[in-house]
Amino acid sequence: MAQQYKAPRGTFDILPEDWPYWNYVISKAREIAEIYGYREIETPIFESTSLFVRGVGEGTDIVDKEMYSFEDKGKTDLTLRPEFTAGVMRAYVEHGMHTKPQPVKLFSIGPLFRYERPQAGRFREFHQFNVEAIGSQDPALDFEIMSMAWQFLEELGFKGLSFQVNSTGCPKCRPGYVKALKEYYMQHYDEICEDDKRRLERNPLRVLDCKNPKCQPVIANAPRITDYLCDECREHFEALRRYLDAAGKRYTVNHRLVRGLDYYTKTVFEVWAEGIGAQNAVCGGGRYDGLVEEIGGPPTPGVGFAVGLERVVMMLKSQGVKVPDAPSPSVFVAYLGNQAKDEAVMLAQKLRAHHIPTVLSFGKRGLKGQLRNANRWGVKYAVILGEEEIERGQVTVREMSSGEQVQVGREELLGWLEERLNG
Ligand code: HAM
Repeated sequence: MAQQYKAPRGTFDILPEDWPYWNYVISKAREIAEIYGYREIETPIFESTSLFVRGVGEGTDIVDKEMYSFEDKGKTDLTLRPEFTAGVMRAYVEHGMHTKPQPVKLFSIGPLFRYERPQAGRFREFHQFNVEAIGSQDPALDFEIMSMAWQFLEELGFKGLSFQVNSTGCPKCRPGYVKALKEYYMQHYDEICEDDKRRLERNPLRVLDCKNPKCQPVIANAPRITDYLCDECREHFEALRRYLDAAGKRYTVNHRLVRGLDYYTKTVFEVWAEGIGAQNAVCGGGRYDGLVEEIGGPPTPGVGFAVGLERVVMMLKSQGVKVPDAPSPSVFVAYLGNQAKDEAVMLAQKLRAHHIPTVLSFGKRGLKGQLRNANRWGVKYAVILGEEEIERGQVTVREMSSGEQVQVGREELLGWLEERLNG
């Protein structure tokens, strides 16, 4: 028996009936990017594996467990991108973008790949609207980035938006915090899960993110990073909060928010929305002032975010948000008899050559069946060609909504349709 193929686990087809949602979301992303002055960049879907190992960081779930890595036929180690940021920074360095006016403001839309356990809103192939602003340390830029994410989601119809924000410090102040956190955890070593014991070694900040019920009381009393920030990081965080206050955006300082990528410094944030839940942030981002240098470029600060588009589309569908329909063809060409069919095929082609969206039936179909088909397509006009019409050099045009029929000369048809469809 033939093999029954299915889309690989954690992947899905975006079917024609889904595209109105996707097109709506993608055009909103482009609109928002333009309003804020961001330009599009497309980087390759695969990059050197080491770019992600260095950029995202060893010890993160993404690098340790989730990358689709392979050696190609030329023995190069490559990885399907699990996120955009590292690739965009590689492009920034490779194209010498530090010589352009800073910050360089870039956005991308496309697929990413992570070997995760599939569940609602979590896939192995997913899509993001990703935004990066590279080359400025100004907290006003963090505010711009956060506002952009907010406006995008708000204009799409998300309800109950709120920011979760935290500062993760910098290489100057974070080690002091990590030391205090580890000391505290060592005092509670018997009360924490095995995963946390491993995290303490490899990626200590991630203990704050642990979902195990057993660890929650320990997390609740853990030292807070905001008490350990150096002057520069504290002032940066205070300035950002002043901007958020002034703009009246709802936010919570979440001391547990550390995010799953190693490159973050200072600001980290997520956007949560009603009905999405803490495990399913619709957007995540933050500042990454050491990343460009880490991957071999000049010291360059940056800040950005990414919105998961599957989660956005799920929200639009579940809240019944109306999106523009995919356009239907305008004209259906129907025929009666073989000679008429030959002419109908040519007529449909002529109309399309003049950019009138036109469809017709294939195979042997009676007129009734063809008109049912025309109805299903949702066309405005059916053009009917029979032997008689051909002899008279005419066609019958039926307006589908009213059922009214008129005779139009073959030579006049194109102009007649153009006038009514484009006029
Ligand atoms: P992230 O938090 O890993 O950040 O992903 C951002 C968003 O992508 C998430 O909030 C979620 O909506 C979506 N997402 C992530 N993984 C999946 C998945 N497996 N299935 C469906 N959706 C998913 C980043 O990727 C950073 N590069 C964002 C960034 C840009 N930071 C600075 N600049």
